[in-house]
Amino acid sequence: MSKFVGLDLGTNMLITGISEDGGDSIFKNQRDCFYKIKPKTKVNKSSIKMSLDKRKVNYIEDEDGSFVIIGQDSLDIAIERNDVVERPMVKGVISPKEKASLPILKLIIKSLIGEGKEGDKCVFSIPSAPIDGNFDIIYHKEMLGLYLKQMGFETTPINEAFAVALSELIDSGLTGGIVTYGAGLCNMAIIHEGDPILQFSLQKAGDYVDEAVGKALDISPSLVQTEKEAGTDLYSPSTIIMKAVSVYYRSVLNYTIKTIAHELKVRKKELPLFREPMPIVLAGGLTLAKGFVQMFNEALKTTDFPIEIGKVMRAEDPLRATAKGALLAAMM
Ligand SMILES: Nc1ncnc2c1ncn2[C@@H]1O[C@H](COP(=O)(O)OP(=O)(O)OP(=O)(O)O)[C@@H](O)[C@H]1O
Ligand SMILES: [Mg+2]
Repeated sequence: MSKFVGLDLGTNMLITGISEDGGDSIFKNQRDCFYKIKPKTKVNKSSIKMSLDKRKVNYIEDEDGSFVIIGQDSLDIAIERNDVVERPMVKGVISPKEKASLPILKLIIKSLIGEGKEGDKCVFSIPSAPIDGNFDIIYHKEMLGLYLKQMGFETTPINEAFAVALSELIDSGLTGGIVTYGAGLCNMAIIHEGDPILQFSLQKAGDYVDEAVGKALDISPSLVQTEKEAGTDLYSPSTIIMKAVSVYYRSVLNYTIKTIAHELKVRKKELPLFREPMPIVLAGGLTLAKGFVQMFNEALKTTDFPIEIGKVMRAEDPLRATAKGALLAAMM
């Protein structure tokens, strides 16, 4: 029997849904970040190694003698050192400039999905090209596709927002709008009767919130991220950090909704005629904040949107929606 894998390659989190031998889907995730510690001396190297081993930290030793800590451990250790983690991916794609990125990403992927054999399929998510930035997604798509093939999988990329549609828009006849708010990007797509009509991304999402709050309060963005994930209530923030988080959430929502509306107006000729008001599904980690849908609706109200909007809903499982859709695509 074959193994089917849906792989959500996110800037902040890699999430996989795996179904083997026709069994239930099993989801796993790992944080997509690393932190390098370069020992100053040989003795220092041994003592760092001892301490990392004692904590059972997930790390590899680099050629230059550094320890490269991977995943959640790297975030915890960076915060302890009042520092920030590095990411193998930035704004939804691997950076061709950072030579450590690809090997680290490969290592995390392998730890999550293992190797494939003949007949095993892996559908992996890719972002849309941004309309407010100047980078392409081709290098990312090709390098990851090649790696997964080398790992023994039959591979196909799937657009992140379209994957969410497969998982969340079945009841609406695969017709509606999807907006995902992740770490690096906000991805949107308009789907009409199963057809992705229009899709693009914008460069403001969770990382923007973390960096803006970090700058405003002079604290590490990694700390802001951790606080935000411990529970964000947008309409009753309990600390100074959370007040600032709420302010920048609103800024992300106003920017993305107004930019999406503007782009749709410019491309109005590409839009289909919707027989009913278009439902919108929101997904991605940032939408987990309490009050997110309300804040989205408030920003929508003050925007002249070129399509009549129906209900705005959050995906049943906002973090796993992309992996779920990618897995469904792998099984089709
Ligand atoms: N419970 C939570 N409350 C608020 N924010 C959260 C929560 N959990 C995760 N986040 C935030 O969501 C963002 C990550 O979302 P997600 O995992 O969907 O992104 P990603 O897929 O890795 O990134 P991208 O799609 O941009 O490449 C981060 O900013 C993270 O801090
Ligand atoms: Mg994502």
